[in-house]
Amino acid sequence: MRLSDSNKDSDRKTFYVTTPIYYPSGIPHLGTCYSTVAADVLARFKRLQGYEVMFTTGVDEHGQKIENTAKKQGLLPKELCDKLALNFEELWREFDISYNKFIRTTDDYHKTAVQKIFRGLFERGQIYKGKYEGWYCEPCEAYFTKTQLCDGKCPDCGREVKLHCEESYFFKLSEYQEKLLKFYDESPDFLGPERCKREVVQFVKMGLNDLCVSRSEMSWGVPVDFDDEHVVYVWIDALSNYITSLGYGTENDANFKKFWPADVHILGKDIVRFHGVIWPAILMALDLPLPKRIFAHGWLLSGEKNEKMSKSKGNVVNPIDLCNKYDVDSLRYFLMREFSFGSDGTYSEETLINRINSDLANSFGNLVSRTTAMWEKYFPDGFFVEVVECEEDKALINMAEVLPEEYEIQMNNLKFSVALEEVWKFIAKCNSYIDENEPWNLAKKIENRRRLACVLYNVCESLRIVSILISPFMPRTFEVISSIFGMAAEEKNWLTTKKFGVLHKNLNLKKCKSIFPRIEVIKNDF
Ligand code: MSP
Repeated sequence: MRLSDSNKDSDRKTFYVTTPIYYPSGIPHLGTCYSTVAADVLARFKRLQGYEVMFTTGVDEHGQKIENTAKKQGLLPKELCDKLALNFEELWREFDISYNKFIRTTDDYHKTAVQKIFRGLFERGQIYKGKYEGWYCEPCEAYFTKTQLCDGKCPDCGREVKLHCEESYFFKLSEYQEKLLKFYDESPDFLGPERCKREVVQFVKMGLNDLCVSRSEMSWGVPVDFDDEHVVYVWIDALSNYITSLGYGTENDANFKKFWPADVHILGKDIVRFHGVIWPAILMALDLPLPKRIFAHGWLLSGEKNEKMSKSKGNVVNPIDLCNKYDVDSLRYFLMREFSFGSDGTYSEETLINRINSDLANSFGNLVSRTTAMWEKYFPDGFFVEVVECEEDKALINMAEVLPEEYEIQMNNLKFSVALEEVWKFIAKCNSYIDENEPWNLAKKIENRRRLACVLYNVCESLRIVSILISPFMPRTFEVISSIFGMAAEEKNWLTTKKFGVLHKNLNLKKCKSIFPRIEVIKNDF
């Protein structure tokens, strides 16, 4: 199944994409932005295609860490969360993230719905009370069995863990092994990339333990409404956001009916088991449809040791600083182009600058400025283009006509980097089309005027198509190009990318200075 096959019972096709909800305790870093920018690109692409899109993100605010930090700061946990949630909302504003809903797990509607979910699972006999013993890593908010520890330390971050023993409720995850394996088998596209799917299937084949889903020694969480000694432990609380954000468990559940099941949950590979194992099992226990697709991307690595970018490793890059130094479209482009979605990738400022200079300033920006400059120089009063297609234009036009289809396939397969690569191959073609047709020579003879206008028009039309295709990645750049060409609404929609020659013929362009100035690097900067 491809993402575009989503079709629910409404006139307009719907599309539901989510990001993980982030722990708000640390200042968000560039790695944190990765899932969100990718989900935003997909949401914008689907809107462009005419889908009614629901795109949710948010923060995961319960847990020991917040409770402890708040205590240290002399605040109530909710007061601390109110401050921290703003960091994310501000960051997403800077990054032009077009979410429809920002969910906080401290929102009342979410808490009420989580209580209903928990009670529902209990009443269905899927949750029982038992005794829990485990090793807890506070920074990772995770419990481990003794065998999972690495030299007695947290297997994820290597820090100290503490032994915990308490009465807890358990979800009967062990009963879902066969059902899950059958489901993975029957739904080959459910989990991607293939590597993560293999890991999850292998994990489930090894047998599943029941899952501890409540805490009695923690107060900062959603209270279990039929047992006031307990709060719901973080993963049921967090995973449920994907349905509570749509109003599930409340009177106002129209969005749930409209958008669930999700078309794709986007997340990092470190939380693929929670999403690929626990989440489907909970949904099966609730008799709810499962998401259509879960896709785990890799990590942004950085620093001398080339490790996962994370606060605990001290190798984080502040995305707001980057936004102040470079423009946000360049950053969005870089994140989606530089790293293959699904694999790890190393971040460095040097690679960012190289991308900006080669792809944006040289290739794309230069194409826009040379085309508009030539138009202004040769047709200062504007010109009505009569299209005179020549044999040598065929290659350009054919390439333009197959590009949207290829791009669409890559986008639907979440191969963002490849989709952009295809667009940039076409940009390179436009640059070579200019070089081959030598407008500066055509301009020397008055009888070549119509041909000259046609050559420049073909490049402008190519740029119109390019601007629409890059709009999910670079919404501001799309607006700039659209205003340079004075594009009307009917010249901007998705279907027009598949047709060459849609741009109006009465062009009157002014030279535009480079839309992506080259970044000059002073030696020894790195
Ligand atoms: N709160 C849970 C998710 C619950 S979703 C129901 C959580 N939060 S987190 O803040 O620790 O991580 C959120 C996401 O950020 C994860 O998908 C994680 O993979 C991603 N990233 C954190 N650091 C990252 C990089 N260095 N690179 C790419 N993604 C990164 O887990």
